[in-house]
Amino acid sequence: MSDTASIAFTSVEALEAFLEEMIHTPSDEAEGLSEMDHGLQCAAILKAERPEDIGLQVAGLLHDVGHTFSHIRDHGEAGGLALRDLMGDRIADLVSLHVPAKRYLVTTDPAYRALLSPRSIETLALQGGDMSPEEVAAYEAHPHGAEAVLLRRADEQAKVIGLDVPGLDAWRQAVKNHVQA
Ligand SMILES: [Fe+2]
Repeated sequence: MSDTASIAFTSVEALEAFLEEMIHTPSDEAEGLSEMDHGLQCAAILKAERPEDIGLQVAGLLHDVGHTFSHIRDHGEAGGLALRDLMGDRIADLVSLHVPAKRYLVTTDPAYRALLSPRSIETLALQGGDMSPEEVAAYEAHPHGAEAVLLRRADEQAKVIGLDVPGLDAWRQAVKNHVQA
């Protein structure tokens, strides 16, 4: 069952209110952290790796918004759909692709599977498991596929209890700057 696209953010105020709720929502994939802790860690890791790519960092912050309104299998797609009108195609694509990026990495990088948390291994099967050669080719042809791999690798690292990273206030302007006119 899927309730994908059950919500769409229609204003930056609505998105910010949602992010503030995530501060109090336990993460579905990073035990002991809130959804916002996990997103903030992901954004901070991407900022360190790609300081010039603010859009990728914002996508890291937002990548799991779908957790709270979608089945785990569909949370990337649901998040991307909810964000597309407000935040544009690139951020929406990066959010949508972070689930297929896991399947892509598991299929193409033998070392990656060992990095996955127990919860991430558990959800992999639900999300489709390994990719077929055709799916790998389609993934690699996507214009944002390579950046979604960076986001995915940051996602796996963004599960550290007690890590000190900038809070939501540090990202509000960057989020606003990506709102579509
Ligand atoms: Fe995540």
